[in-house]
Amino acid sequence: MQIILCESAEHVGGRAADVIDARVRQGPAVLGLATGGSPKSTYQELIRRHREEQLSFSQVTAFTLDEYAGLPPEHEQSYYSTIRREFADHVDLPLEQLITPHGDAPDLVAEAERYDAAITAAGGVDIQILGIGANGHIGFNEPTSSLVSRTRVKTLAGATRADNARFFPEGDVPRLCLTQGLGTIREAKLAVLVAMGENKAEAVQAMVEGPVSAHCPASVLQMHRRAVVILDPAAASRLSLLDYYRDAQEFNDQLGQTPTRPWLQQPLVQQG
Ligand code: F6R
Repeated sequence: MQIILCESAEHVGGRAADVIDARVRQGPAVLGLATGGSPKSTYQELIRRHREEQLSFSQVTAFTLDEYAGLPPEHEQSYYSTIRREFADHVDLPLEQLITPHGDAPDLVAEAERYDAAITAAGGVDIQILGIGANGHIGFNEPTSSLVSRTRVKTLAGATRADNARFFPEGDVPRLCLTQGLGTIREAKLAVLVAMGENKAEAVQAMVEGPVSAHCPASVLQMHRRAVVILDPAAASRLSLLDYYRDAQEFNDQLGQTPTRPWLQQPLVQQG
C-alpha cells in the first residue's frame, strides 16, 4: 500500500488524476468509478484535463462501483445518473462504454452475477477509484462483508443511509444496493482510494494500520497488489506511521519522480 500525503484537500484530486491520466493516455483502459463526495475533485480535474490538455476517454470502458436497488438508471439519485452528471457527460466517454448494474432489474441476484461477469469479460478493471465510508466501507461493502465477496445485493448500514439521506429529501433512502464485492475490487490491477476530512480519519487508520478484518472492509486493500491511498491532512491525522510515509514520499521526490511515476512507466500487469 502506498500512502500519499497531500498538503490540502485541494491537492488530493490532482494526485489521483495524475495516476488515471497517465494510464488513460497509454491506450484502451478499464476504469472503476466510485461516486460520492470524495472522488468529485478527481473527476473535476479529469474533466479539466479533457478540456484543456486533450485527455481523451474515447477508449475507456467504465464500470461503476455500486448502485441503489430499486432505482432505475434515469432516477436523479441513481449512481448511474450521478456519475453521468459529475463526470461522464463532461468528457468524450461513449455512453455505451459506461456500464452500471441496473438497480431496477427484476432479478437483482442475477443482475449482480451478470455485472461481475461483465467486468471479467472486459479484462478486469485497470484502475479502481474508491472513497471510504466513515464506517470503513468501500463500494457498499458494509462492515462484516466477506473479504472474498463478489458483486451482490447488500443491505445498507444505518450509518450509510444517514450519511446519504441528504440526497433523498423525501426520506426514502433505499435499504438495499448492488455493490461490487471486496473480492471483485481486489482484482482491479490498481486501486486508488481518496479520502478527505476528519470524519474519515478513524476509518483510514483502521484501513491502513489496523488488522485485515471484515469489521473495516477497506482493510482488504492491505491484501491488494497495488493500492494507493491519497489523503488530506485531516484524513491522515490518526495514522501512527506518518513519519515513515512522509520519508518514503520525500525519497521518491528526491529521485525526481512523482511517487506514482515508476509504476506508470510499466504496463499495469498483475504482480506475483
Ligand atoms: C459510492 C462508494 C462509497 C463512497 C463512500 C464515501 O460509490 O463507493 O463507498 O465512496 O460512501 O462517500 P463520500 O465520498 O460521499 O464520503
